Amino acid sequence: MKYQLSKSWVYIEGTDIPQNKLDITDSAFIHTVEKNLLDKAYHKFSSELSSETLLNEKYFIDLHKKTFESLYEFAGVYRDVNMTKGNSQFCLAQHLQTQSTRIFDELESEKYLSNARDNKSLFSQRLAYYQGELIALHPFYELNGRITRLYCDMLALQNGYRPINYENAINGEQYIKASIEAVQYADVSKLEKIIFDGLNR
Ligand SMILES: Nc1ncnc2c1ncn2[C@@H]1O[C@H](COP(=O)(O)OP(=O)(O)OP(=O)(O)O)[C@@H](O)[C@H]1O
Ligand SMILES: [Mg+2]
Repeated sequence: MKYQLSKSWVYIEGTDIPQNKLDITDSAFIHTVEKNLLDKAYHKFSSELSSETLLNEKYFIDLHKKTFESLYEFAGVYRDVNMTKGNSQFCLAQHLQTQSTRIFDELESEKYLSNARDNKSLFSQRLAYYQGELIALHPFYELNGRITRLYCDMLALQNGYRPINYENAINGEQYIKASIEAVQYADVSKLEKIIFDGLNR
């Protein structure tokens, strides 16, 4: 799946492979490298997580940066171009910083969901709201889905849950459908069900 970018230095010309520090031009190979980096990041960030860790905007950006900086120049950098996928328009670049700040301020005011942790339905509902907001924000050039899910897993872990199991939803395309409804209609009910089903203590 390709993005319609106005103009960007991010991709190797004529491909959907991002320019990268290892000069990889093979799509399957770069996916393997990304998967290994993400696995390492899950290990690192979950082992470093404590009840004191502030899951604020800096933390979110750091997840992207520290996970992918050995591979990508754009790790931890918000995009400065508008992006769409299918018929979905993600947050306009000019509003990205304001919207990001708003989302993380809201999360802080909800105490990073600690008030909802004892009620799985409520926790799923609030987490789906924030996941939908981050999907619509789409702040990075690439790897938004994986970093958004990593971030939400850290929220889950900090509140006494395990990382969310999205396997069925992602394999079965329900996750994409839920993303489309979140971005185009601000309707996160499908996302909420996916999260509820994949969430366990
Ligand atoms: N048509 C669409 N409308 C809205 N959101 C979409 C659409 N297709 C994908 N998305 C969302 O965009 C994000 C994917 O963005 P990106 O390619 O930057 O990240 P990724 O980590 O490579 O993706 P993936 O989620 O497939 O692992 C995910 O959050 C996904 O749910
Ligand atoms: Mg991608």
